[in-house]
Amino acid sequence: MIQAKNVSLTYADGTVALRDVSLNIRPGEFVYIVGPSGSGKTSLLKLLMGIEFPSAGSLYVMDQPIVKREAGRIRKLRRSIGPVFQEFRLIQGRTALENVLMGMRFLNIPNRQMVNSAKEALTKVGLGHKASVMVEKLSFGEAQRVAIARAVARKPALILADEPTGNLDYDNAINIMDLLYTLKDKNTTVLVTTHATHLIGNYHDTSLIHVEQGKISVEHRGEQK
Ligand SMILES: Nc1ncnc2c1ncn2[C@@H]1O[C@H](COP(=O)(O)OP(=O)(O)OP(=O)(O)O)[C@@H](O)[C@H]1O
Ligand SMILES: [Mg+2]
Repeated sequence: MIQAKNVSLTYADGTVALRDVSLNIRPGEFVYIVGPSGSGKTSLLKLLMGIEFPSAGSLYVMDQPIVKREAGRIRKLRRSIGPVFQEFRLIQGRTALENVLMGMRFLNIPNRQMVNSAKEALTKVGLGHKASVMVEKLSFGEAQRVAIARAVARKPALILADEPTGNLDYDNAINIMDLLYTLKDKNTTVLVTTHATHLIGNYHDTSLIHVEQGKISVEHRGEQK
């Protein structure tokens, strides 16, 4: 699903965000990415989304090389990725339901079925009753949950979620982690950055990527309960 070999990312201003990252993530893996603020978690997800490109090393996502000159093919790759951005990136002036539908616009399924799936996703994140509310009227935590619904509704092969429980209370955070974890059974690969390390122990058969000043270490965690 994801193969990285000696990948580094240096931003235009010279900041080295990731150094010598090597990774191999199999389809259906559930991976937590943890580490202090500024350690490089979002940078890693941006590489996997093809928003940033390796300054050195090689990176493949679903067999697609992440290099600048493949921009067209990377746009296509993104249709198989459900992104949850740290800053949500919802479309203002549209309802929660419309935002979820935006994430599904590339799917070749009948409109009615699409609306049903979108509503189902909103219900799963506890927002069935807010489907027709404009996103700018939602609370931070509600907006975050719309962003998660948008990512999961399209049933992507790969979910890349950046701090998806950052603004949620304990019950909502558990609900979201449970929801993401259930995707594992559908063979969806899920990578989640999180500061909510107290929640991680609830889930077995996951991997943990520790990011520290741009360096990573990987830990595989088997059955816990
Ligand atoms: N566009 C950019 N240009 C230059 N430096 C950047 C850019 N984006 C991020 N950085 C720097 O790269 C480093 C890693 O940032 P990143 O956003 O990946 O951290 P993070 O682990 O996601 O942090 P947080 O937990 O606060 O979200 C930081 O030093 C940050 O200042
Ligand atoms: Mg971040």
